[in-house]
Amino acid sequence: MSPEQLARLAGELDEVEVVHNTPAFPIPGTRAEKRAERSVALWFVISAISMIAFVVAFIAWPWEYVNVGEPGHALYNLYTPVIGFTFGFSVLSIGIAVIQMVKKLFPDETSVQQRHDGPSTDVDRATFLAQVADAGKGTTIGRRKLIIRSAGLAAAVAGIGTGVVALGGIIRNPWAEGDDAPLWHTGWRPENGETVYLRTDTGILSEIARVRPEDMEPGSMMTVFPYRESERGNEEELLHAQRASDAPVMLIRLRPGTEVTKRPGQENFNYGDFYAWSKVCTHLGCPTSLYQAQDNRILCPCHQSQFLATQDAEPVFGPAARPLPQLPITVNEEGFFVARSDFVEPVGPAFWERPKTT
Ligand code: FES
Repeated sequence: MSPEQLARLAGELDEVEVVHNTPAFPIPGTRAEKRAERSVALWFVISAISMIAFVVAFIAWPWEYVNVGEPGHALYNLYTPVIGFTFGFSVLSIGIAVIQMVKKLFPDETSVQQRHDGPSTDVDRATFLAQVADAGKGTTIGRRKLIIRSAGLAAAVAGIGTGVVALGGIIRNPWAEGDDAPLWHTGWRPENGETVYLRTDTGILSEIARVRPEDMEPGSMMTVFPYRESERGNEEELLHAQRASDAPVMLIRLRPGTEVTKRPGQENFNYGDFYAWSKVCTHLGCPTSLYQAQDNRILCPCHQSQFLATQDAEPVFGPAARPLPQLPITVNEEGFFVARSDFVEPVGPAFWERPKTT
């Protein structure tokens, strides 16, 4: 039996009745048909171009944060919209192309089939395959080389674009700078022997409010940022120090007499009842902004992780799996809190190279 005969038999066996079938273009090769074909191909090509634009933007667009008012801020601001638009438009264009192809080129057919329960027989399966092949012929796609090529182009470029999305984030080597790699240090790292103070945010950038022990009541918490005297009067550097995502630290004053279990090797990181922990949650990086003095718990509002201040900020509830990194602090001869060093472990969500410290 020829494939056509098998397809017909399949229809009969499946009790499919073709009510009507009208080819989109009964006479092949007309100008109207060519026009329809070109409009479908055009959308596939637009999809490919859009995906190429996405790949270029993903790799080359300036994505690093630029402060408001600085040159390049507008371009930085456009990074996410540009990659979102180009990727989304590429996918949308493929959708439009497929819809147009079905509407303009596929035959207009109405069939009715009776439904039966149970598995298919061998004959059913053979005839089904023949039917699918025949339907493929009926769509006339097989002879439309322009559409096949443009669809192939769009699919190939979409595959490349998706690959870029999946792999792009891990191409850059975060350890290229060795011990100086940004993941290993924060704005708390003392540089050129300069003292790093703990400063609170008053809402006025130029107002430098360094913190003293007497500024805090027992059982209270304050958010602090790194500050160096060399930054005084330099709005740009002050802003940078305050805006850095790994800079915020919670300075907590425990109630007198609170017993604390300290991590081995970090016994002297605190100053009396004062403890400083990174405010960046080790789950997904939200600010752990809430301190509950009654039971000494630090709470992250994003997914409800809780860290116990009396147990070296160990997570005791929620999805966070690692303790908050502790900043070593002391008080200098002027009576201000200062950082004794940078954090001794990476801040923020865990990553696989991070040594487990507990
Ligand atoms: S980011 Fe803190 S619990 Fe998820």
